[in-house]
Amino acid sequence: MFPKNLFNISDLSPSAIEEIMSRAAFYKKRKNEALSPLKGKNIVLSFWEPSTRTRVSFEMAVQRLGGRVINYSPDNSSENKGENLKDTLKTLAALGADAVVFRHRSPGFFNLISQVVDIPFISGGEGCYQHPTQALLDLFTLRERGVKLSEIKVIMVGDILYSRVARSHFYALSAFGAGLTLVAPPVLLPAGLVPDGVSWSYALDDLLPESDVVYLLRVQRERQGKALLPSLAEYAALYGINEKRIPLLKKGALLMHPGPVNIGIEISRGAVDFFQRNYPERILFQEQALNGVFVRMAVLDLLLGGK
Ligand code: NCD
Repeated sequence: MFPKNLFNISDLSPSAIEEIMSRAAFYKKRKNEALSPLKGKNIVLSFWEPSTRTRVSFEMAVQRLGGRVINYSPDNSSENKGENLKDTLKTLAALGADAVVFRHRSPGFFNLISQVVDIPFISGGEGCYQHPTQALLDLFTLRERGVKLSEIKVIMVGDILYSRVARSHFYALSAFGAGLTLVAPPVLLPAGLVPDGVSWSYALDDLLPESDVVYLLRVQRERQGKALLPSLAEYAALYGINEKRIPLLKKGALLMHPGPVNIGIEISRGAVDFFQRNYPERILFQEQALNGVFVRMAVLDLLLGGK
């Protein structure tokens, strides 16, 4: 039921995802107990792109499951070191590494390595291709709020072009029947990118009144070779959640963001303060980050042979 490697969220069947959700809920309830499904296992974390939430939560997940973390994360992510990385991982596997959790800017890079290093590989984000555990923790966070995925409309707003999170949700949200609409300025939303079954629009304000979840995506300036947006202020005015847009939101609508949030671009400081003061239960950013630990515990446990 569980694949050896996790590169793409669609490597997981809906029933495998269900099992991850329930295992994550189990771990969340036992957050103060000493656990040992990874006892004696050595997990390599190899992150070649910046990461706070994902790396730290994978590290905490391994530790809470009783495993050991080996960090192998060079600060120089240059491609031509690929040969070295392959050899290093081979050596680490020979020394007893049991799995690799990785992040890299080039999709497919670790997939190639996985063909010569015979231990499981789990993605913590690949370029603008996939971020499977982010999609899983988002599903978990919504489920935990009592949301019935098959009954909701989600809009993802922002840098769709460069978002690995969006690409994972093309499958994840759709697999559970959520309606998904992508919203962005034309330059960040090429028509060819939108898969069957997913809608798109350039007009945020038209969609806000009917959206149950507003999922904000960071403008990935580091991936946009040249600045694609003439002005971030203009982007914020047209696509940011600010105090003027709050009245347009559907009653009870939830706000999500994978982090890190650019305050003042995807959402204004005033809007964050408004929600934290009046509707803290509707702004899920911190909850998503926290749930990352439990969902990653579930993924490691189930993929690495837990019972
Ligand atoms: C996302 C990522 O790295 O893809 N963040 C995360 O994993 N928490 C989104 C982003 O960087 O914008």
